[in-house]
Amino acid sequence: MRKLLAANWKENPGSEARARALFHAVAEKLTESHSRSAAEAVICPPDIYLDAIAGEYRKLNRTAKRGLSIGAQDVFWEERGAFTGEVGPAMLQRLGIRYVIVGHSERRRYLHETDAMVNRKITRALRDGLRVILCVGEPAAVRSKGIAAARRFVKNQIKKGLTGVERHGSRFPIGGFAVAYEPIWAIGTGKSDNPKDAAEMARFIRRELPRGWGSRTRILYGGSVDSGNVLDFVEYNEVDGALVGGASLRAGEFGAMVAKVGGRRLLRRQRQ
Ligand code: PGA
Repeated sequence: MRKLLAANWKENPGSEARARALFHAVAEKLTESHSRSAAEAVICPPDIYLDAIAGEYRKLNRTAKRGLSIGAQDVFWEERGAFTGEVGPAMLQRLGIRYVIVGHSERRRYLHETDAMVNRKITRALRDGLRVILCVGEPAAVRSKGIAAARRFVKNQIKKGLTGVERHGSRFPIGGFAVAYEPIWAIGTGKSDNPKDAAEMARFIRRELPRGWGSRTRILYGGSVDSGNVLDFVEYNEVDGALVGGASLRAGEFGAMVAKVGGRRLLRRQRQ
């Protein structure tokens, strides 16, 4: 599976003009690096800029578009209706959005998004053909009790998040499914997880997925990833890429990450 680097811009940047500029800077870096045949990148801006960024994306030439796509940071489970503030899957797809992040820990924490809500979002998004990046990960209080406790926490999130989803398995674009393991204490703190522990958790997560999904699902690591440590994570076969917050707001940093990950894969392939 090609490694995936997903940029989660969160509630940034502060204006549409700056969002367009950041997108162009990233696209330029990716084109320069010539590495996108070996690593895939997805940019997830805030909803308010999706139309503008999707428009900019459409203007790119074919080479620049290769291996690059646009994602949303969330999606609702109903298509339309009296759901103030929400955006449905078809609305996103009409803009050419391919990916959606679901269940990010910040939404779980600040907006009290539950596993049941995450489950409804995933079910709907997959059924409608969007590629889902499901976020899971334990808080510091759980991790301090040890790896076994962290595993139990993550297992529970996966089971509840994916309840019933597998029943419709054959209709889902499973090849487009990803789980991002993001220990909450590592997000935005500069204290990333130990890469070996993250790889072990990735292996564990793969085993916990519905039958037949493991080999087709990408497991990403997220939490204080930058160009300095991204290779430490993706060098493990278990880790299929990264979900990047802070560092994705700097085009040079994100470009360097994709170049490193993609370049390394290319090198490997050439050697084989
Ligand atoms: P970070 O965020 O890279 O800033 O730690 C990761 C995320 O929240 O997805």
